[in-house]
Amino acid sequence: MNIEIQGSLSNTTVQSAAMRRYYRLHAIIYDATRWSFLWGRNQVLKQIPIEKTANATFLEIGCGTGRNLDQLANQFPSAQLFGIDVSRDMLEKAAKTLIQNQHRVQLLETAYPSELPTTPQVILCSYALTMFNPGWEAAIEQAWKDLPVGGYIAIVDFHDTPFKWMERWMGFNHVRMDGHLLPFAATRFSAVHQSVHKAYFGWWRYFIYVGQKTVA
Ligand SMILES: C[S@@+](CC[C@H](N)C(=O)[O-])C[C@H]1O[C@@H](n2cnc3c(N)ncnc32)[C@H](O)[C@@H]1O
Repeated sequence: MNIEIQGSLSNTTVQSAAMRRYYRLHAIIYDATRWSFLWGRNQVLKQIPIEKTANATFLEIGCGTGRNLDQLANQFPSAQLFGIDVSRDMLEKAAKTLIQNQHRVQLLETAYPSELPTTPQVILCSYALTMFNPGWEAAIEQAWKDLPVGGYIAIVDFHDTPFKWMERWMGFNHVRMDGHLLPFAATRFSAVHQSVHKAYFGWWRYFIYVGQKTVA
């Protein structure tokens, strides 16, 4: 038995259609390969300033195979968890990963921005926003609107690389990697945590950002 995936994908865009195609194949090898370069995913979760016992609602935009939602389920045993993704293939993996927590997990097949079923206290974006091309600004703006005052956005993603060939290779894989996300997120939210780290001695850098919505 799996978690039922909800949603109808009525809001397909050129970007989300490209993602669906890309992850049709990559969903198969995703968990076996991505641990080696999606650095900082555990660290960003540790920076979320919510009580372990809180009844909070978490939403992950671009939840993929459910790896982070699974960690969140362990970290916050009373939390409600929502995952949105445009790729059915990725969500089917997530539905299997999260089966033990099915009573408090909802998975939605939709392209963000889209209408949410609930108001989350935390929106997590883990290695998703660098793939929103176009659309990363609109997604951050929408996350700000979707959060209540006092809510948090938590982002971990690629930051930049000194190597042009790496930037081109990542672009070929739908990832924009030129330091564009962090400054923009920082204009919308009040930083609770912000750090930039080297991966493989500087091959590329990734960032962790947790920001709070402090005004309506
Ligand atoms: C690199 S994966 C990250 C998956 C997961 N967050 C993780 O950290 O392992 C990016 C995910 O974002 C999803 N995605 C891309 N554009 C999206 C959009 N507009 N709306 C919802 N999900 C999207 C992709 O389908 C993919 O599953």
